[in-house]
Amino acid sequence: MKALAAILIVFISLNSLQASRILFLFPTPSKSHVIIARALSTALAEKGHDVTLMSSFTTKSQLKNHREIFIELGEGTYQQMNHLMSNPTRNFYKMMNATIGISYEIGKDLMESKIMNDVMKEKFDLMVIGMAFTNFLLGLTQHFNCPVIMLSVQRHMSFTNLIIGNPLSVNTAPHIYIAKHDMNFIDRVKNFVMYGGDLLMYEIVNYHQRVIYDTYFPSTKFRSYDEALKNLSLILVNDHYTEGVVRPNIPTVVDIRGMHIKTVPDQLPNDIEKFLNEAKEGVIYFSLGTNVRADSIPQEKLQILLSVFSKLPQRVLMKWETENVAGKSDNVLIKTWLPQADILAHPNVKLFISHCGLGGIVESQYLGVPILGLPMFGDQMMNADLAEQEGWIIQMDLETLNEEEFYKNIQELLYNETYASTVKGFSRLFRDRPLSPKDTAVYWTEYVINHRGAKHMQYKAIHQNFWQRNSLDVIGFLLLSLWTIYQMMKYVWKKLIKKIIQKIIRKGTKKSEKRKKL
Ligand SMILES: *[C@@H]1O[C@H](CO)[C@@H](O)[C@H](O)[C@H]1NC(C)=O
Ligand SMILES: *[C@@H]1O[C@H](CO)[C@@H](O)[C@H](O)[C@H]1NC(C)=O
Ligand SMILES: *[C@@H]1O[C@H](CO)[C@@H](O)[C@H](O)[C@H]1NC(C)=O
Repeated sequence: MKALAAILIVFISLNSLQASRILFLFPTPSKSHVIIARALSTALAEKGHDVTLMSSFTTKSQLKNHREIFIELGEGTYQQMNHLMSNPTRNFYKMMNATIGISYEIGKDLMESKIMNDVMKEKFDLMVIGMAFTNFLLGLTQHFNCPVIMLSVQRHMSFTNLIIGNPLSVNTAPHIYIAKHDMNFIDRVKNFVMYGGDLLMYEIVNYHQRVIYDTYFPSTKFRSYDEALKNLSLILVNDHYTEGVVRPNIPTVVDIRGMHIKTVPDQLPNDIEKFLNEAKEGVIYFSLGTNVRADSIPQEKLQILLSVFSKLPQRVLMKWETENVAGKSDNVLIKTWLPQADILAHPNVKLFISHCGLGGIVESQYLGVPILGLPMFGDQMMNADLAEQEGWIIQMDLETLNEEEFYKNIQELLYNETYASTVKGFSRLFRDRPLSPKDTAVYWTEYVINHRGAKHMQYKAIHQNFWQRNSLDVIGFLLLSLWTIYQMMKYVWKKLIKKIIQKIIRKGTKKSEKRKKL
């Protein structure tokens, strides 16, 4: 018995030796970023680490070693965010402008807060930050003297690759704005130009991040922003090659798409479970996500949705801002919050009506549910375009939505087998991996902690400038060398030829002179 206790004590102390203190820092007004970050932070807490998640979307944690700290974002941040949301636009410039505006606000909100000052007195073994225009946070790695991992909730973008030095693969990897899997020549020309634009944009973003960084991490005490950028150990990206874009990835790029989906769904709340179980004709799940406020959708559009739902034999589970909605039929259940992935995992759910945020798209792919897409802004449109090419969603424009079309498309998605079987086939491919996305993310996070960074995996390109990365300096040098050699040869040739010709001429004239003399 004593031996057992001793073993137990050794085991426990060994375990606590391995427990690390990890800081997740997500000062973003976008809830979907935090949802994905929380998937990793809770998974690490479940493994015994001491985790702190700082965000503006805290929830009550069941785990003792998972602490959530609320970051209060100021009026300015939300004003900019609303501006971004209420002007659904594909205008890249305006989006960038608003996003840069937000990052200044966030810098102020976070770095000048009391709570951040308190947290900065603690010690951490690892920091995880989002790829959300908050690169200035890299200054904290020197403060805490710990390695840092970046988590990108977007799929591979130029920025993801540039920040860690991953090859851009301009010839094969379509820019997210191309929203196509296969590129013809014209697409490749467009792609090239868009990547060029991204390089410029990257410089602009870094210019602004540098300003924020220098404000809070002055050069008298901290390394420069550009040096701090090179300190990134690893980037976790919400992407996977089954998505359709196969690209070369260096070891410090880890694809974790699907990480936030549980391999076994949680128990649903009783009323919802009952509603789903008893739906003989199946269920349609409706949600426009977390960033879009339902009351920003015109009342007449809501009435179109409800009117079509009332004509269906299926039940409809709807996420909306309020539960009291006039004109809702008996087959519709409205809730202000719903555990989306757990619902989509239910076998009776046949269709998802979605705004096509990346989270929802990934859940649908993972769980094999076709989508009727109502994309509104930003990457939602691109997500919808790609899924449409893959053949498992039909997208509609909420602005021009009418009853007849909406009903027709729902019927098509429910009764034409093609859509469901396409997405179910994809789901099988997507899930077939040596380690689940979540386990992959946990593994690499612990790897960085255990080796105090991943400097040994760092790709050398990160220390090279644009010319060096693309061998342009070498190509330039070789071209110059060739030109020089050519010029030299031309020169020598000329001289030589001249001499020979002169000699011949001279000989000739001598001969003729001789002849004359004779
Ligand atoms: C860009 O953002 C600034 C504030 O950050 C705002 O004053 C300005 O109007 C914006 N410009 C455009 C074209 O949206
Ligand atoms: C980042 O900085 C930390 C602490 O200064 C250091 O231990 C680590 O090796 C660096 N990592 C990289 C990838 O440069
Ligand atoms: C089902 O949908 C596919 C893809 O849109 C289409 O090609 C096919 O004709 C449809 N089948 C029927 C029976 O309508």
